[in-house]
Amino acid sequence: MNAILKTINLSKHYGSQWAVHQLNMTVEKGEIYGFLGRNGAGKTTTIRMMLGLITPTEGQIEIFESNLKNNKKNILNRIGAIVEFSGFYPNLNAVENMEINARLMGIKKKQAIQEALEIVGLASEQTKLVGKYSLGMKQRLGIARAIVHHPELLILDEPTNGLDPIGIKEMRRLIKSLAEERDITILISSHILSEIEHLANRVGIIHQGVLLEEINMEKLKDANKRYLQVQVSNISKAVRLLETEFSISNYQVLDDEKLRIYDLGQSPAEINRMLVTNSVKVTELAMKQDNLEDYFVQLTGGGQIG
Ligand SMILES: Nc1ncnc2c1ncn2[C@@H]1O[C@H](COP(=O)(O)OP(=O)(O)OP(=O)(O)O)[C@@H](O)[C@H]1O
Ligand SMILES: [Mg+2]
Repeated sequence: MNAILKTINLSKHYGSQWAVHQLNMTVEKGEIYGFLGRNGAGKTTTIRMMLGLITPTEGQIEIFESNLKNNKKNILNRIGAIVEFSGFYPNLNAVENMEINARLMGIKKKQAIQEALEIVGLASEQTKLVGKYSLGMKQRLGIARAIVHHPELLILDEPTNGLDPIGIKEMRRLIKSLAEERDITILISSHILSEIEHLANRVGIIHQGVLLEEINMEKLKDANKRYLQVQVSNISKAVRLLETEFSISNYQVLDDEKLRIYDLGQSPAEINRMLVTNSVKVTELAMKQDNLEDYFVQLTGGGQIG
């Protein structure tokens, strides 16, 4: 484990509420970390603290193994970010917008700007006024601006907000290629699990300012994989038969009638036939899958997301 970013009891108080409370999260070098939470959960507040835009009420942030408070300039030079609506000048074109920003960051090489525009696929649209850009193009320009100085860590606050399904897919591909081909560690926030399901290696779920869970994506998917739910008259006999007849070992007994089979080597029909042949009455047999989105909704207390 090689943490590139770490928060220690990070908290932010606004008025009478904790927008973020005692947050301990860790982003490992090289991973894509999905920072997931419903509207108002505290994602942007956390990210703003990570970028030194607001001061934590309590707690610490360590990035590249040093304290943000004491090494702000150094650390921020090695980070790229998009935070909510970061404005561009609509009456300037993409290159001009990038140049203003690059100058602020002390980047002199025009080549760096060209390279960044090429990576995000805007090279051919670089002389178009940004005011005439679509939302998806503006988001991509935001990424170009965030990567122009070759950051090691990229922090993206809901970069797919407002994009259509194709735009979301393109953004996902771009983010993935930045992680894989350029070796950039990425923290990406979202309020939609399915959006980062195919992208993140790990997710942290924040709810009402509290980090509920930090979990490996594979583990999360494993916990929500397909299973066959069976209701039978004699559960202990059914279990014994499944083990001896079909060598099924990955199952879970729910109560004295129901069990879930995660080993799906046998078809439901075969299982049904075998149990019935051995005088076990089957009253329910259904293939099920806990949806990841359902899991997220359940974890964060139900209701509509978004
Ligand atoms: N400047 C502020 N002053 C007072 N309260 C604030 C401020 N910024 C955020 N909050 C409150 O802090 C909580 C967390 O807000 P935050 O913007 O971090 O959520 P979020 O997870 O980014 O939500 P969204 O998905 O809608 O972007 C909310 O209750 C919000 O009203
Ligand atoms: Mg936000």
